[in-house]
Amino acid sequence: MLLDNPVPFVSTINALHRVLPEKLHAPKVGIICGSGLSGLVDALRDVVLVPYDSIPGFGQSTVPGHKSSLAFGFIGAGDGIPVVAMLGRFHAYEGHKLATATYPVRIMAKLGVKNLIVTNAAGALNPNLPVGTIVVVQDHLALPNLTGMNPLFGPLISPEYQRFLPVSDAYSTRLRRLAFLAANEMKLPPSDLEEGVYAWVSGPTYESPAEGRLLRSMGADVVGMSTVPEVVVARHEGLEVMALSLVTNPVIIPEKYRSLKEEVAAELAGEAVVLPEQQTVCHEEVLEIGSLKGKVMKELVERIVNMID
Ligand code: 6GU
Repeated sequence: MLLDNPVPFVSTINALHRVLPEKLHAPKVGIICGSGLSGLVDALRDVVLVPYDSIPGFGQSTVPGHKSSLAFGFIGAGDGIPVVAMLGRFHAYEGHKLATATYPVRIMAKLGVKNLIVTNAAGALNPNLPVGTIVVVQDHLALPNLTGMNPLFGPLISPEYQRFLPVSDAYSTRLRRLAFLAANEMKLPPSDLEEGVYAWVSGPTYESPAEGRLLRSMGADVVGMSTVPEVVVARHEGLEVMALSLVTNPVIIPEKYRSLKEEVAAELAGEAVVLPEQQTVCHEEVLEIGSLKGKVMKELVERIVNMID
């Protein structure tokens, strides 16, 4: 048993089955809704909400803009496809162990989920990705994973699990292709859906300009504080995975600027100088774009789910 695992899987599964109608006992697709993207629940029919604080082994999500419930329901025509969506997720920066933060993904797998769609809000490191762009994650850059803050750190849950998990194929080609087909169906302008590399940082601080430059120089297109732990655990559970990042803000990376030393010298020499403005990003901005673009994300996910089956 994983040392940090809060409770046995069966207790959680049984608790969920007790409150769910039988037709929702085995969802096929899992969805994780990122900051400001929980409106996705509107895409579900016959919804049953199960608050995290009523589920054994689940933590409490503490970030504003997150709803802290599992939503079970159906997407699509006819009987529809049974899905389970996390409205709000757990982050390491809230104080959760990564095993707790990713426990819901293992539970989704035990319930019968085979495909997982993970969404998040992210900052753009690539200047060619304007705010509002949805990025289909093609690969990740996870410094914490490389340095000991890995969700698979620790004893194996049981011998059937892989000890050394490859992640070179983490982001399913089949699912990513569906995203572009769905965007085409929706007649989205091609530049609304791009591909890119997602950098996971632990947060809760946003990147300094130098850190942004570092991540960009390492090949990342977007940066955020989630998703990778869930993707890694989903792969550990054998799920097929895709991740979509909504760009909510640019990460300002000044490449060349006159140094402040030069500016002050110019000022002292009588030149009129305008000091460079220091820019910051805030969570409200992130939520705002989420609610603005949430509808597009919702429809995209809905269409992808319909094509999965
Ligand atoms: Cl700029 N950085 C990080 N780490 N996460 C974000 C973000 C930026 N924007 C939204 N989420």
